[in-house]
Order: sequence, then C-alpha cells, then structure tokens
Amino acid sequence: MRIIAIANQKGGCGKTTTSINFSACLNFLQKKVLVIDLDPQGHSTIGLGIKTQKGMLTLYDLLSPLQRIVPPFSQVIRSLKPDFDLIPCNASLNALEEEFGFMPNYHLKLRDLLNRICEDQRHYDVVVLDCPPNLGILTWNALNAADEVVVPVEPSFFSLHGLAKISETLQVVNRSREVPLAVHALLTLFNSEVNFSHEIYDEVKAHFQNRLFTTIIHEHVSLKEAAAAGQSIVQYAPQSLAFQDYLNLAVEYLERDWNRKLPEKELGWEQVFKNHFGPRQISDGILFQFSSKTASSVEIAGDFNHWVPEPLVRRNQDGLWQKVISVELKTFRYKFIVDGEWQVDPSQPTQKENAYGGVDSYMEFA
Ligand SMILES: Nc1ncnc2c1ncn2[C@@H]1O[C@H](COP(=O)(O)OP(=O)(O)OP(=O)(O)O)[C@@H](O)[C@H]1O
Ligand SMILES: [Mg+2]
Repeated sequence: MRIIAIANQKGGCGKTTTSINFSACLNFLQKKVLVIDLDPQGHSTIGLGIKTQKGMLTLYDLLSPLQRIVPPFSQVIRSLKPDFDLIPCNASLNALEEEFGFMPNYHLKLRDLLNRICEDQRHYDVVVLDCPPNLGILTWNALNAADEVVVPVEPSFFSLHGLAKISETLQVVNRSREVPLAVHALLTLFNSEVNFSHEIYDEVKAHFQNRLFTTIIHEHVSLKEAAAAGQSIVQYAPQSLAFQDYLNLAVEYLERDWNRKLPEKELGWEQVFKNHFGPRQISDGILFQFSSKTASSVEIAGDFNHWVPEPLVRRNQDGLWQKVISVELKTFRYKFIVDGEWQVDPSQPTQKENAYGGVDSYMEFA
C-alpha cells in the first residue's frame, strides 16, 4: 500500500482536483484506491458526489479522541465504484485541531488509523490524502502517514514563494522519519499561452529536477465542470484532454512506482532473464518481460490496464525489458507494442482470437 499526500499550503493550486482525478485514473488502470478527504472544506467529498449531510459519519468519527465508540469502517468508508473508496469529511474535522492539541503523538493519529485499516484486511494499492491549504495538524498528520508527497504547483509568482515554505516543512518532517518522504512536484492549471507559465516551469524544474512529473496538467474547463457535477473526469469526460492529462499522470506515477518494485532482490534479474521469459507471478504482481536489443520502446497493454499502453523499462545491454503490473484477474489477454507495432508475446505460446480478426496473447493463472 502506497500512501500519497497531495499537499501545498497555497490555496487553489489543484490539490483537490488532483486527488480526485489522479485517484480515479489509478482506479481506471485497475488499482484499488482509497481517497481520504483531510480538508474540512470537504471538497473531495463533494467533488466525488457525496453529499455532506448532518449526522453523516466521517473521518472525524474515526480520528476524534472524544469519540467513545469508534464506528466500524463499513459505516464510514464509502464505495464510489468497485475498488474505489472514499473516507469523506465535513466541517466537523475543524474540531480536531483543538482536540488533538491535548494529546501526545497527535501527529501520528492518521498513521495509526491507516494501520488499523490494514489490520482490518482492507487492501488498497494506493491511498491518496487530500490536504487542506495550511500546514496545520491535519497536513502534519498526512505528511507523517505518507510514503510520498505530491506538491501541485500552479504557475504564479505566489506559488514559487510558497514552495520555500513547504520545502522547509518537508525537511522538518523528514528529521523524525526513518525513511524520508519521497517528494514529487506537479505543474497544474498550466496555460501554455501565458508567457510566464514557461518561466515558472523552468524555475520549478530547476528546484525539483527529476522529482518534477514530466506530465503537466493543463487548464481545462471540463475539470471544473466535472467537480460541479460531483464526478471524476473518468466518469464525466473520458474522451477529454483533461482525462488524458490525468491518465498520463497515473501511468507516469505507476512507472516511477515500478522502479521501486524491481525484482532484483527477489530473483536477480539475470536469473529471471535466463530462467523464465514469459509472464510470471511475483509478490508485487505479474512480471512481464520482452527481449529486444534494437527496440527503442516496448509497451504493454491488456485487459488489466484497459488496453492503455504502459512502457516497459530497459534493464540491460542484452535488451531485456521488464515491467511489473499488479493484476487481479486470473485470466487476461495482452499484447506488446514494440516501436509502435502491436504484437503477441513471442515467449508465450497461448493465444486467443480477438474481435478484430487478429490474435492476442492469453494467460491463465490458477
Ligand atoms: N487543471 C485545471 N483546469 C481548470 N480548472 C482547474 C484545474 N485544476 C483546478 N481547477 C479549478 O481551480 C479551483 C481550485 O482547484 P482545487 O480546488 O483543486 O485546488 P485546491 O488546492 O484543492 O484548493 P484549496 O487550497 O482550497 O483546497 C477549482 O475551482 C478547480 O475546479
Ligand atoms: Mg482542496
């Protein structure tokens, strides 16, 4: 389970829009995702179509030390779609600032809650935390619970000014963590027609270097419309450029995620290469491999990612390409895309005809 805080004390830089749509696109790519709305404004909650009525059980009820009986998760966690859940919140969360003030280790309460969720056998691939626009107790909890933080930056002079502040906070949080937070920056609300957008891009790139996502989220009216309709962009406008931007972000994130999951420790890639070339199950999912010394890009698409191609990573001079995908399906079809050409897996003989008169590679795991 990877826990990602979307944080920046600067208001209106796209935290909530990113929390909603990045999560929805990860879910679109077959990941099991939980969004936790940590902002008492409840914008993620509303933007995902949940009405914040009075008496509704929320994150507050799971975290408040004044709660005599903590409600079961089933009464608080809302299922938005299969494998896409939300812990909603509303203005009641404001009270936590005061309630936590009297408690030891108040900054670790969200981390404890996430541990309890794991112990309850609720498995998520990714948990996304939508933080409020300040560096108060709730953001502090998020940064202590998270493995990584995405800092959305919209191109304005004030956002550069705010970056120094959040960078300083991250340094303080890291002092008390065993494993430092992985920090990524994301350019949002980008309008390429505005000249200084490019200047801001250069500044943010200079500051974050390869920790800046290559994907840029442009300004799209459809994102505002989707929020107003209480839907993610996956539901509201799956043909839009806004959907494409957030899908690119999800794919790029999983790609970076994959780099943490290389199976060297488990097997040693040379051994993997020699012993077994077709898809195989490992602890983090299914390892796909392809051999080509000449290809300049190898991608994979299949039932597990809605046939949206995801790149394999070239591993060595001998032309070994690899990717680990978390696949829950027992049977699936897939194909490699080598320098833009779709082809079946040459190391795996089982194939099935498809609806277009061609064949796909086909795998069945017991
Ligand atoms: N890429 C985008 N294109 C167009 N509008 C956007 C985009 N991203 C965000 N917005 C709009 O900008 C406004 C602020 O975005 P959002 O609520 O996501 O920011 P935030 O950082 O969560 O704000 P807050 O600090 O108040 O929590 C919203 O009206 C949202 O619909
Ligand atoms: Mg917000």
